[in-house]
Amino acid sequence: METQFTNRDKKWIQKRVRKTYSKAAKNPGGLFRYPTGHEGLTLLQYDPELLQALPAEVVASYCGVGNPFTLGPINESDSVLDVGCGAGVDTLYSAMMTGPSGKVAGIDLTPAMLNKAKKNLLMTDLKNVILEEGSVENLPFSNENFNVVTSNGALNLVPDKARALGEIHRVLKPGGRLMVADEILIGELPKEKDKIIKSWAQ
Ligand SMILES: C[S@@+](CC[C@H](N)C(=O)[O-])C[C@H]1O[C@@H](n2cnc3c(N)ncnc32)[C@H](O)[C@@H]1O
Repeated sequence: METQFTNRDKKWIQKRVRKTYSKAAKNPGGLFRYPTGHEGLTLLQYDPELLQALPAEVVASYCGVGNPFTLGPINESDSVLDVGCGAGVDTLYSAMMTGPSGKVAGIDLTPAMLNKAKKNLLMTDLKNVILEEGSVENLPFSNENFNVVTSNGALNLVPDKARALGEIHRVLKPGGRLMVADEILIGELPKEKDKIIKSWAQ
């Protein structure tokens, strides 16, 4: 059953997300319980040839939790949306696969992450990428726009998942695909949750 959040809860969650990911935008190394950057991408079996085409600084900014590209192809000329794009590594990775005849959009809630993604984009010669600030709960795109929506480590941070999935469905073309890598909690929250939540509230 999905937890019901008040508007106040939702605002608090978004504030926490922006604070945490503003730090990660500077350098994700050591901030997460899982490997980030080149180590994470290698363990998750991203294509080494495509990774080689990205500058080391771009690769270092990856903080995804899994590899959504194991779930299906990104084809030449596809239009792709990366939800919760962070510093944009998956966005740029998709843009290399669609080629110049495709288009790829990235959207993220955290301005610092989006600025990092814009800097990362400028370090490549990709011309088929747009980056927007915003929430997946209110996507700034028209209906039936994308062949594929990808998301990596973002949907677990979204309070209104039903709304987020509705928005993703709205912007997908008929027959379009959603490819998600994410974390889920199975069972009860750990006992130390109250301590963790208190530390967040400071
Ligand atoms: C774990 S990071 C992953 C970033 C990126 N996908 C990657 O693989 O490197 C999660 C990202 O989701 C973003 N995020 C969280 N809630 C969001 C929301 N409601 N809408 C859009 N992005 C969101 C955060 O700002 C953060 O950049």
